[in-house]
Order: sequence, then structure tokens, then C-alpha cells
Amino acid sequence: MYYSDEIIEEVRARNDIVDVIGTYVGLRQRGSSYTACCPFHHEKTPSFHVSRDKQMYHCFGCGAGGNVFTFIMEYENYSFPEAVKYLAERAGIQLPEREMSENEKRSENKKVQLREVNKSAAAYFHYLLTKSKRGALAYKYFKERGLTDETITKFALGYSDIYSDDLYKYLKSKGYKDELMKDAGLVEFDAKRGPHDRFWNRVMVPITDINGKVVAFGGRVMGDSKPKYLNTKETDIFDKSHLLFAMNMARRSKRRGIILCEGYMDVIAMHQAGFDNAVASLGTAFTVGQANIIKRYTNEVYLAYDSDDAGVRAAIKAIGILREMDMTSRVINMKPYKDPDEFIKNLGRDEYEKRINEALSGPMFEMAVLSESYNMNDPEEKTEFMREAAKKLAAIEDKVSRSNYIETVSNKYFLDRDNFKSMVTSYGIAGMAERRNYIEEDEKRREYNRKKEDGRKEEEKLLLTWLANKPVLFDKLEGIISEKDFTEGDYEAVAKKLFQQYRETKKVNPASIVNMSDDLEKQRLVAEMLQTELQFETTDEETEQAINDVVKKIKLENIKREMAENKDINRFQELINMKNQILKMHISL
Ligand code: UTP
Ligand code: MN
Repeated sequence: MYYSDEIIEEVRARNDIVDVIGTYVGLRQRGSSYTACCPFHHEKTPSFHVSRDKQMYHCFGCGAGGNVFTFIMEYENYSFPEAVKYLAERAGIQLPEREMSENEKRSENKKVQLREVNKSAAAYFHYLLTKSKRGALAYKYFKERGLTDETITKFALGYSDIYSDDLYKYLKSKGYKDELMKDAGLVEFDAKRGPHDRFWNRVMVPITDINGKVVAFGGRVMGDSKPKYLNTKETDIFDKSHLLFAMNMARRSKRRGIILCEGYMDVIAMHQAGFDNAVASLGTAFTVGQANIIKRYTNEVYLAYDSDDAGVRAAIKAIGILREMDMTSRVINMKPYKDPDEFIKNLGRDEYEKRINEALSGPMFEMAVLSESYNMNDPEEKTEFMREAAKKLAAIEDKVSRSNYIETVSNKYFLDRDNFKSMVTSYGIAGMAERRNYIEEDEKRREYNRKKEDGRKEEEKLLLTWLANKPVLFDKLEGIISEKDFTEGDYEAVAKKLFQQYRETKKVNPASIVNMSDDLEKQRLVAEMLQTELQFETTDEETEQAINDVVKKIKLENIKREMAENKDINRFQELINMKNQILKMHISL
């Protein structure tokens, strides 16, 4: 790790978790802990808990959890060293300056290295575009698309040269290793052809994460050849479904809401025209993960998808996702033009501003699209339209807004209001389950995996949590349970630390254990071990009973396991005795 354990612990100890998290979300005191609606997933009732005693947080809804570093890493999308720096500054702690050699820098960690090589590539592409003769055609291409020098600088646009190993040679000269270039998705290595740049002879758009660090590229051909756009494949730092192009800029915009476009050229044109709240998903459908990112900043999304059939379908899908997350959507009509880029080029920014103000709300847009496939003068078809429309409105959870929509839609399409209303109501009751379909598959899978976690892990986790909460248990369990009874890899490591802390200080410091690793996922995992809870409120007796049950289960299983492996008759007898003892044992708190 980059900083010493002592310094990390000092930074952690001097940033009280309740104070820090309190600046991001509104916390309410409830007994010994503080609660809020979780900033990492959508919910209406607070299941996000922050404990001052433990200096940790945990969300019982989505499983997010950790110490103050984890929170900052998750919320601000910082790396571990970045989180340390940020919190040190906050607490007025001077971090030791370390002069790093080129070599040290490289070995710091994989993600930092990946960002670095991307940064170098971006600088090189930008140099080729703006400073070299070889980039003249690309520069002309951007100019012909109406981009100003200011925009080219703002988005650090670039050009990849016609030679297929040009970037490779450049990065090599800078000392980057082949493997890193490969892992960054910048160079492909082929036994026959040798190193081969992924991008060549394209205009280049650096794709940045929420902190403005380059994590990938999009490259566009300057003519009509295919594929028109080429993006970096997914890497350790580039997860398409959790990234929005230009979100790093849009999140600081003073404009209202976020405008979601289909492509990055649209976003660039929009920013140039002053709509600096525009973002784009990257050649994929809008995902729950992306909605989550937007939701940290605003609840209002304007959709600026292409006016073609595919664009309309994509908009409808996005509306569903946004509705599911309690966000509002509006759809900007760009007809007769295809996309924001073309619209602005032809009609200008003021006209676009008007279209934003006239944007139809998500449900009204869905109604308009739906109505197009029915002949409203035909009674049968009109009934069919009512049914389909009712199904959609039934998905609006907010009563008042649902009833307003029933009103508006009835008026607009000349429907009998009472009939329509009762249709919506009946679909509302029948369709509870259907609504879930809006949630994307990957989200469902994650949910499922979380629940499937096997019993043993759950037990070890509970026991770790109880030990962290009630250090008195260490004495009570002396001679019965030790770190050796934990069998699941990471659980064992955490148990070791926890027992060690207690042995040395007669106290535990769970938040410091979270920093066993500087990897966010790992921190989350460790935090979860130290703060699982039974799903429901329990009395002291119930807790005592649960602790006894879990300890017995773990212990008996370990004994059984050892018996199966052990051939030594004496040890076997010992194990039988131990088993009988455990069966009779009762730990009282
Ligand atoms: P479009 O073909 O509508 O491109 O694709 P565009 O944004 O109008 O681009 P210009 O104006 O011709 O330059 C929309 C988006 O779909 C993705 C890109 O993200 C693009 O911005 N796409 C498209 C690809 O990833 N690959 C392709 O080959 C085409
Ligand atoms: Mn376009």
C-alpha cells in the first residue's frame, strides 16, 4: 500500500464517519446509529445505517458498507489513495510527501496504471490532432462538423494515425509495458502481425470517468467505412454500463436536470451550444447502473434520443427504468432532424431550448407513441388502446401523479374517464409483478446471488458481527471459538485481525480492519462481515439464543469435518467429547 498503516489509521480516526457522511446525506439519529435513505441504491424507507461506535456504515437494502474510506471511494468514485488524500486534507493532516520513481509509480496499482496509460494515449492523440501535420485531415473533419478549438480542447479530442503501430511505438518509448497496453485495450498483440493499435486513422474521443480521468476511447472514421464508431472494450477501469460520457462535466452544470443523448458527438455539440448538462451512454441501452449515477445529482432526465424507430424504442425503455427509480423523464422532440447535433446545426440553440421546454413527460410520450398504432375512430381499436394505456399508467406508483395522468390522457384522447380509471386500477393490482420487468437482468442476478449466499458464510458473518458489537463475547467464547474456527478464506483473515485486536488491547476496532485491502470490493465484503444483522429486531434473549445456535452450528460442523479427516483414535475420542460438551453448552450474555 502507498501510505503506512499508521498514517491511514490516523486519517481514519480523525474523520468521524457520522460527520463525513452527514455532509453527503441527511442523517437521522435513531438510538445508537444514524439512518438515511441509501445513496447507493434507490429506496423510500431508510435502510442505510451509520454507526459512530463502530465508525462504519451499512445498507441492509443493497449491501453497501464499509468505513469512511470506503464511503468516499464509492460516493466520489475515488481510488483508495485518492480517498486518503481527500480525508487527510479534510482533517488537516499533512501526508508524507513521497518522491516516487517511475518504477514505483507503475507498480502502485493496476487501475492507476491503466488510467495513466490512457492519459498518455489521450495526450498523444490530442497532440497529433492539434500540433502535427499528420492530424490535419482529422482537424478539418472536426471543423467541418462545426466544432470550435475551445470544444476540441475541452473534450481533449484527438486523432489516431494511419500507421497501425503508431500508438504502440509511442507508448513503448514512454516506458509502458506491452501487457499494460493490452490490458488497457489500446494495443492488440497478434502472433503473426505483432503489436497492432486498436485505433488507427480515426478521430478520437477520450471517455472519462466521473472524476474526469480517461478510462477509454471512442474512435470515429472520417468517411463512411465501417464500423463507424469503435470503442475500447471493457477493461478493469471501463465498465460501460456504469459510465456516462461527460458526466464529470454535467454533474457541475447549473442547468436543470440531465440530458441523455445517444452518442458522444451529440453530447459534444450540445455542450458547445451551452447545454452542458448533456451526457450519453456509450453504444449500449441505458442501464439501471447509469440511472443510479444520475440520481446522485438529479431526479430529472431529458431524453434526446434519435427520432428514428430504434431511438423511440430506446426512449421507452429508458422511461421505464427511470420510473422504476422514481425519477422523472421527458422526451425532447427533435423532428424533423435525427439527433441533437443535426438539430442544433440547423435550427440553433434557442430553438433547442424551446424543444426542451416543450418536452413531453415520459408517460405522455409513451401514450403518443402508443396512439400511433391504433385507429382511434374504430371502437375496437380504441378499446385496445385504452387497455394498453391503462397498463402503462398503472405502473406509476405515485397516486396523485397517476390520477393526474388519467385525467390528462382521458382528455387528450377523448376517453371515458371513469372507465379508463377503473381499467388503470385493475391493472395496477394485477401488474405488481410485471413492473419488476423494467429492472435490468444484471441487477436481478446480483440480487439473486446476494440472497443465495450459503449458510455457512452467513453464520461466520453473524458471529464476526456479534464479536465486533459485543467484545465481551471474546471472554465468553474463550476456549470454545477462536479464529481457527473460521473456514471461509476472507472470513478467516478478518477473524484473525479481530481476535488479535482483542488480545492486544481488550478492545476491537472494526473500522480499521476494513483497510486490510485498498480494493473497494474487498472493503465492502469485509464491512459486511462486521455488520450483518438478523433481518428483524430481536430481544436480548433472542439474540442470546441466536448466538448459541450459530456458535454450536459452526463448532459442530468443524468437529464433524475434522472427524471425517482424522484417523487418530485419541484425537477422535477428544472430538467426541468436545461434541458432547458443545451440545450441552449454553453461553449467557
Ligand atoms: P449514430 O449512428 O446515430 O451516430 O449512433 P451519431 O451519434 O449520429 O454519430 P455521427 O453524428 O454520425 O458522428 C449513435 C451512437 O451509437 C454508437 C455510438 O455511441 C454512437 O454515438 N455506435 C454507432 C457505435 O458504438 N458503433 C457504431 O458503429 C455506430
Ligand atoms: Mn449524428
